[in-house]
Amino acid sequence: MTAMPSAAPSATPSTDPCHHLLSIEALSDEQLHLLFSTARHWAETEQAPACLQGRTVALLFHEASTRTRVSFELAAKRLGAHTSIIEAAASSASKGETLADTMYTLAAMGVDGIVLRHSQNHAAAELARLAPPGVSLINAGDGVHAHPSQALLDVLTVERAGLAVAGATLTIVGDIRHSRVAKSNIALWQRLGVKKIRLAAPAELLPEETIAGPIEVYSDFDSALPGSDVVMMLRIQRERIQGLSLPDADAYHQAWGLTEARLARLPQHARVLHPGPMNRGVEIASSVADGPRALIRSQVTHGVYMRMAILAWSLGALAAKS
Ligand code: NCD
Repeated sequence: MTAMPSAAPSATPSTDPCHHLLSIEALSDEQLHLLFSTARHWAETEQAPACLQGRTVALLFHEASTRTRVSFELAAKRLGAHTSIIEAAASSASKGETLADTMYTLAAMGVDGIVLRHSQNHAAAELARLAPPGVSLINAGDGVHAHPSQALLDVLTVERAGLAVAGATLTIVGDIRHSRVAKSNIALWQRLGVKKIRLAAPAELLPEETIAGPIEVYSDFDSALPGSDVVMMLRIQRERIQGLSLPDADAYHQAWGLTEARLARLPQHARVLHPGPMNRGVEIASSVADGPRALIRSQVTHGVYMRMAILAWSLGALAAKS
């Protein structure tokens, strides 16, 4: 569906269907490959073909966001799409409208893609089941369930920094229990042949369920450091935590913060990821966050290229064989 009949013709090949992006698990190997090769090519060449000209992407955000929202917005615009931002507090959701009715309203106005962030697990999948033909749903974070675009951009960043995911040891530190970023990364890195994933956190922030695969659980940060190729730091998601007694910021930093001293215990080639937003001086020292081993700003840059690939694929504007 194009936004307006009078708009410039879309570059959409008629043979390429539209797709929903709901989770890493729902992507085929071919689709993963297509997303990575497209994003990599656009990042290398700094290209942005106008393949979404005349299309419309709505950004439906029911939770706070800076980088994910702006990243999807810029990605859509760089490909020539129109964008419309709907934030829950300023929308009819605050008047009792259901998410499905919001989607039907947007679809009736010719929206082609809905990028959804929501506090409920599986919110995007539930909407996708009800979506009219020609409307693609893109999960930009649903509760504590999944954040597939973040995992895809994290891997793109790591590869572009010259590190291989296959055979690597990934160490994830912090609030893993409430992190959709950790869950999508665990799924993706396993798909791509990671050697080991170490999960390091205080007991109350470790996942409640056992995760299948080459997973090692650490109850102290220092023992998880040696031999790590990539360390992913996570903030404590206080907005999702009730009834847990957590250490204060200073005590947490002592025990679980990535400090210069801990950085020095990593192999020279090891790099640091953080999906943001960061809490400086809590899970990560400022000097580490701003230092040469951190890929944090590169994650943000690569996020736009990965989201361009996601939007182009999702709206059926890539010549895919899927
Ligand atoms: C993360 C999220 O929203 O899940 N942020 C992001 O999308 N970059 C992580 C977080 O909020 O801590």
